[in-house]
Amino acid sequence: MQVVNTVKQLQKQISVATASKRKVGFVPTMGALHNGHLSLVKQAADECDIVVVSIFVNPTQFNNSKDLERYPRDLQTDLDALSTVKCDFVFAPAVDEVYPEEDNRQFNFGALETVMEGQYRPGHFNGVAQVVSRLFDMVKPDKAFFGLKDFQQLAIIRAMTKQLELSVEVVPCAIVREEDGLAMSSRNTLLSQAQRKNAPLIARTLFESCNFVPDTSVEGVKKQVIDTINTDTELDVEYFEIVDGYTLQPVDNWNESEYIVGCIAVFAGEIRLIDNVTYKL
Ligand code: PAJ
Repeated sequence: MQVVNTVKQLQKQISVATASKRKVGFVPTMGALHNGHLSLVKQAADECDIVVVSIFVNPTQFNNSKDLERYPRDLQTDLDALSTVKCDFVFAPAVDEVYPEEDNRQFNFGALETVMEGQYRPGHFNGVAQVVSRLFDMVKPDKAFFGLKDFQQLAIIRAMTKQLELSVEVVPCAIVREEDGLAMSSRNTLLSQAQRKNAPLIARTLFESCNFVPDTSVEGVKKQVIDTINTDTELDVEYFEIVDGYTLQPVDNWNESEYIVGCIAVFAGEIRLIDNVTYKL
């Protein structure tokens, strides 16, 4: 495994490695790696010849400066974690390397970005699109791997690659969970003991809500999920939406779409956790 910090080094190494037309798999991350990230890296290794992982806490996607400040960063621990799986290159650039000058591009993802995360974290997806399009341009991957945990992010990345006419294949990867069901997240390490203890209620409630589909109305399931999680003193639902899995627009009944997903954001104190469950596919 080689660690490179500049685009020049990165491209030189990749071009040597791909001289024999081998497929490059890319996993963009912001570090603080856990088994969720590592499952993406393993999938990339299964499907590609060369695996590149980027570790870059992208300032343009944080709409909350405190969140950016406290985002966990520990490169050595991340490198140790990556050394346990097949990873050929770790790209860990400085901010100036990714943004030699300010990126003023404004993407337009239409209705995809006006709901849920887009609504509650204004500017977030524009920053994600900025950094991922830059990283794609630097790494030039054949395939890029993204977790379904960030369900809306995946839809945005797909829309972005279409808009920019990129040839990269975007591969969705399953959500990896802790034993108690909590979706793995870099932010879980920031939870207090009490918050961590109660946070699995989010996933448990989402899973249980599947038993009420399709007999209970969409509105009824929404209310049940929100009320159940809000009864917990440590947890506070920001939104829970039941949406079409392709357009991300809310559905009113279970027959409205072939693909229906429930997406949730919950505050545990100041820490924001997201998760989702597929009701129909
Ligand atoms: P980050 O939160 O580090 O996540 C990197 C990738 O890991 C994303 O594709 C995310 O969906 C995936 N991931 C995180 N937790 C997961 C879990 N429990 N199971 C499966 N996959 C999981 O998402 C970002 O970084 C950034 O927005 C990024 C795309 C790197 C752009 O800066």
